[in-house]
Amino acid sequence: MATDAICLEGVNTFYGESHALHDLSLSLRAGSVLALLGRNGAGKTTTLHSIVGFQPVRSGRIALFGEEVAALAPEDIALKGIALVPQGRRVFRSLSVRENLTVASRIPAGARFTLERIYDMFPRLKERAKQNAGSLSGGEQQMLAIARALLTNPRVMLCDEPSEGLAPRVVEDVGAALSQLKSEGLSVLLVEQNTRLALALADHVAILNTGRLAFFGTVAEATAKDDFLVQQLGVH
Ligand SMILES: Nc1ncnc2c1ncn2[C@@H]1O[C@H](COP(=O)(O)OP(=O)(O)OP(=O)(O)O)[C@@H](O)[C@H]1O
Ligand SMILES: [Mg+2]
Repeated sequence: MATDAICLEGVNTFYGESHALHDLSLSLRAGSVLALLGRNGAGKTTTLHSIVGFQPVRSGRIALFGEEVAALAPEDIALKGIALVPQGRRVFRSLSVRENLTVASRIPAGARFTLERIYDMFPRLKERAKQNAGSLSGGEQQMLAIARALLTNPRVMLCDEPSEGLAPRVVEDVGAALSQLKSEGLSVLLVEQNTRLALALADHVAILNTGRLAFFGTVAEATAKDDFLVQQLGVH
């Protein structure tokens, strides 16, 4: 059986007394892309924050490549090789592009992602290396957020709504960057409200509804249930 990059079993997460994730179980197969879909407030970001340790889980198990991480601190989970590209990009606007890339980079000897490699992958970032990140367009800031995560040389990338608020042509560029991650052999958990983009990139699909898993299956299984997708997501 293929190794799971991420495996959640019966995860329950709360904000105070408010129960946000209910017995959530899902898995991301190593080297594949899992699209995590759901309406606003469904619990997508909470799922990612539970995985990286930003939001403590009250019960359940979370394993990265078979290793239990649910009780670890966020910085220790990050060191296991997981990187989050946060919702809303969260670049350091008053730092330069280059400083954003290097501030939290982790580039061991022989690492796949170096600054040179990132500049090859994202030539616009090289051109704008000395500019403040706040002066970049939304699409460029998203590329910067992805590039910054890659420079920690992760095995797993969690991307939280990378297409949010971007023009259709720029969404295509983001899609191309994400598909490159997959071809690099990275495992990707992709949260999206753009169902079309997500289904074009993903191998498997998980749908959340009010903090509960409503569907888990292959992209083919998901698209065969067109009415169900419309009902769950409100979109085609
Ligand atoms: N810091 C918080 N404190 C209290 N409740 C929260 C907090 N963050 C999220 N919630 C609640 O938890 C539930 C899940 O929110 P979450 O942000 O995970 O949803 P989401 O699927 O990422 O939504 P969106 O698509 O809008 O980003 C919602 O009911 C939300 O109101
Ligand atoms: Mg969210």
